[in-house]
Amino acid sequence: MSHNRERHRASFLDSTQCVPHDAPVLRFLTAGESHGPALSVVVEGLPAGIPVDREAIDADLRRRQGGYGRGGRMRIEKDSVEVLSGVRHGRTLGSPVAFLIRNKDHENWKDVMSPEPQPDSARERRRLRYPRPGHADLAGALKYGTDDLRNVLERASARETTARVAAGALAKALLREVGAEIRSHVVRIGGASLGAGVIPWEALADVESSPVRCADAKAAEAMIAEIDHAKKDGDSVGGVVEVVARGVPAGLGAFAQWDRRLDGRIAQALMSIHAVKAVAIGAGFEAGETRGASFHDEILWEPDRGIARPTNHAGGLEGGITNGEEIRALAVVKPIPTLLVALRSVDLRSKEPQKASVERSDTCVVPAAGVVAEAMLALVLADALLEKTGGDSLAELVAHLDATRARQRDLAGPR
Ligand SMILES: Cc1cc2nc3c(=O)[nH]c(=O)nc-3n(C[C@H](O)[C@H](O)[C@H](O)COP(=O)(O)O)c2cc1C
Repeated sequence: MSHNRERHRASFLDSTQCVPHDAPVLRFLTAGESHGPALSVVVEGLPAGIPVDREAIDADLRRRQGGYGRGGRMRIEKDSVEVLSGVRHGRTLGSPVAFLIRNKDHENWKDVMSPEPQPDSARERRRLRYPRPGHADLAGALKYGTDDLRNVLERASARETTARVAAGALAKALLREVGAEIRSHVVRIGGASLGAGVIPWEALADVESSPVRCADAKAAEAMIAEIDHAKKDGDSVGGVVEVVARGVPAGLGAFAQWDRRLDGRIAQALMSIHAVKAVAIGAGFEAGETRGASFHDEILWEPDRGIARPTNHAGGLEGGITNGEEIRALAVVKPIPTLLVALRSVDLRSKEPQKASVERSDTCVVPAAGVVAEAMLALVLADALLEKTGGDSLAELVAHLDATRARQRDLAGPR
């Protein structure tokens, strides 16, 4: 299993020879349909020796299922991971890790989702013909040349994020071994938001006790009211989440090529989450309204701490490289497209006007999107860590990182 070492060497050569970044060191592929038998994910590139706690993975899966504003489906599913490969006696082996998460609802969809040919009645029973504005229905129908939107939405559905969260839990386990942790919280739902100012890391420890995963009880009440109003109107509501990583080693990512810049890689990963329509790193959009002297984070020296930054508008990334501060990113989640007050649409067969189809759906998924954002950030950071350190085993990785950190202490002092 010299794969990681090879990749590390290759990535070193790439950075010196300006060869574009081709594939990540840590990669994962998900499979599965929303009402199929299961979701699955294969995670490849993790070193041997990472502790794998199934309870911790299930806890993240439960958090993804929760949040005020979720619909009936989440009451049916009790997501839990089955480990198929790559883990022995609670630790990764260095071989690909495969996870399975069964869809309990599949029991009710066996003929509709059967891989075997079925009578037309099975297709018609759950046929969706009137594409929902904002969902993948129309674009997917055009792409695959079908007017059976079930063929599109089953994979386009955000149920897929279950598999990402399971993969992300592995990445978090690796990051934990080097002292890095990730949290998320809800900043806005519709018109209700937290006030200005950064919510400190410590205040994010309790967000799970809030039904909307918000750090401020008063703001949470207003957010719940926004969801209730939207639900009463048969509508949906979006919002903003922040994801924060602390303890991430400095020096991950690179400015040598556009596709090595870690801010860009994080933005892509967060933007790939269903319904996420904007991403900002650190103070993000405020950068366009603020002058340089008040935006940039000054560099100070404190005898006991070494280099200190009094602010973190950069969100822990400068030049596409982690600078040792907390990584902070915002993701804007649009209101979900399935609405009881269905918008105007068209019957793709008859071309007659129709109200858009309605599937069982959530009202607000912003709290859940935060949990998915944690997973995606963890996967990108774990990849960048492995790119920096290489290592077929956790011990090798840690030894390399210790040496890097010692060199950094010479420059920047204890951090
Ligand atoms: C956790 C989560 C749950 C979601 N649940 C629903 C849902 O129940 N109904 C719905 O219409 N959209 C839901 N969405 C959003 C759609 O999956 C998404 O809007 C759709 O796939 C189109 O992709 P796009 O919005 O990125 O263009 C959810 C998104 C997330 C992150």
